[in-house]
Amino acid sequence: MCEMKHSNCNMKNPIHLVTMVTVLPVLLLLILAGFPASIHCASTSRPNVIFILADDYGFHDIGYHGSVIKTPWLDKLAAGGVKLENYYVQPICTPTRSQLMSGRYQIHTGLEHSIIWVAQPSCLPLENPTLADRLKDLGYATHAVGKWHLGFYKKACWPTRRGFDTFYGYYTGSEDYYSHMRGCFMPGDRHCAGFSEGYDLRDQEAPAYQDKGNYSTFLFAERAQRILESHDPKKPFFMYLPFQAVHGPLQVPEQYLQQYKDIKDKKRRVYAGMVTCMDEAIGNITRRLVQLGLWDNTVLIFSTDNGGQIAVGGNNWPLRGWKASLWEGGVHGVGFVHSPLIPKVKQGTVSTEMIHVSDWFPTIVAGIANGSVAGLPLDGFNVWDSISKGVPSPRTEILHNIDVLTTPDLESQPTFKSYLPRFNESGTYNTSIRAAIRMGDWKLITGQPGNSSWIPPPEAGIVPIHPVEPVGKHVWLFNIQEDPNERFDLSDSEPDIVKRMVARLQYYYSTMVPPFYPPGDPNANPKLHGGIWTNWE
Ligand SMILES: *[C@@H]1O[C@H](CO)[C@@H](O)[C@H](O)[C@H]1NC(C)=O
Ligand SMILES: *[C@@H]1O[C@H](CO)[C@@H](O)[C@H](O)[C@H]1NC(C)=O
Ligand SMILES: *[C@@H]1O[C@H](CO)[C@@H](O)[C@H](O)[C@H]1NC(C)=O
Repeated sequence: MCEMKHSNCNMKNPIHLVTMVTVLPVLLLLILAGFPASIHCASTSRPNVIFILADDYGFHDIGYHGSVIKTPWLDKLAAGGVKLENYYVQPICTPTRSQLMSGRYQIHTGLEHSIIWVAQPSCLPLENPTLADRLKDLGYATHAVGKWHLGFYKKACWPTRRGFDTFYGYYTGSEDYYSHMRGCFMPGDRHCAGFSEGYDLRDQEAPAYQDKGNYSTFLFAERAQRILESHDPKKPFFMYLPFQAVHGPLQVPEQYLQQYKDIKDKKRRVYAGMVTCMDEAIGNITRRLVQLGLWDNTVLIFSTDNGGQIAVGGNNWPLRGWKASLWEGGVHGVGFVHSPLIPKVKQGTVSTEMIHVSDWFPTIVAGIANGSVAGLPLDGFNVWDSISKGVPSPRTEILHNIDVLTTPDLESQPTFKSYLPRFNESGTYNTSIRAAIRMGDWKLITGQPGNSSWIPPPEAGIVPIHPVEPVGKHVWLFNIQEDPNERFDLSDSEPDIVKRMVARLQYYYSTMVPPFYPPGDPNANPKLHGGIWTNWE
């Protein structure tokens, strides 16, 4: 890989220049003597990685999936890269981010239920080194710009203490795009009474009040470019760019709406504008990488964090279901990789190899950065050769999740506190528990899969389909290869396959750590902390 690193070996830095002048004659001798040219820049040979994570970005909502929403930059990058068309994420925010940062399934980190709500004393458990930790060990400059959502109740959970040299962004899961204010909420939990709203935008660890009133997509794009401009090209960088876009609330500067006058549905129109604004931000950052001479040694990865949210304009057509469900509309994600480092024959191709968000940790650390993941208890696989060379994916199954806290008989409980003891009593997995697993072409869903309709984009003029499932039904089986939109449940006709997959869920269940889902803590109240969301322990 070293021969592609010329931009890292450039002469901007005077000290570097002196070093080059003194070693140049030696290098020439080495090269003439037939030494591999890679030796001279071994310390700077690791590729840069920019990981762009869009929030609640629907499977349908990218130009190359047939959307009317304009995404010229994403389309162009994907067209010259590798489109991942058998790519899976988790159905909601914290879970996808936890798996990306740890390389582990939620059942192994205790984050298998829901998200981390603002007042919950929870974060990605500290014994898990993050992707940024590992890349920092390998000499990378590490930056996070955007949404964290992996917990902040104590300082040790903050991104600046979890491997990132710099952080600019917000800790919670959603907020106002301009005021950066966020209220308190948690389903089924009443602790929020008496809470004030809190400001949530940080520059390193301090509140970034100066940026109140600015739209976050602009702020994040600006910050990303400033960081790249001051980056020391002798070091590789890892930039993690989890945009606020295109999560609710529906907010976008007026200029992005003009082009969508034809979309009659108001929510869809604003959402479309938000997508196009994000696309422009990605274009600006990409252009800057090229201008700075960093592009040739960079791998750009683009991914959604989960399926689109219908209620705020997102869409996953033709897939079934949406955000938060275990149907394909919740977990079959849009994603691609673009890099000049990918061999030419693979640029502009579509990969149908099975890839999951937990795979990025080993793929980036071992596959791209040539580091080691030995000794880490990962659930992800290094799929870099599948992406860059087309070799079969080492992954043949995906545990979508096992969530023991969402079971039919527990749904009506007043608070989640009373759910927790049930896990330890229950002993074995049973099919009333919310779970899904993919094995080869087959997908089994048990328990409550969540919203199950097929919803076409409003501008398409197609009638939505709202299937009526028999009361009490809690097992579904699909052949995703033949039936990617989950129209034909085969659980009755293929009992042996169901049995085999239930057995596999039972195995995973036996490896599971109990879910950690504490009640909200009144001490989180921003009123007690000068009007900001911050640590309270
Ligand atoms: C923030 O908003 C102000 C006022 O509109 C503007 O002058 C400034 O350029 C904006 N900053 C960014 C980073 O967008
Ligand atoms: C992209 O860059 C242009 C030109 O500097 C700027 O006007 C625009 O606001 C930027 N867009 C975003 C989304 O940052
Ligand atoms: C990758 O790392 C190994 C072990 O550290 C090293 O021997 C090898 O040369 C590296 N490969 C590249 C392409 O840099």
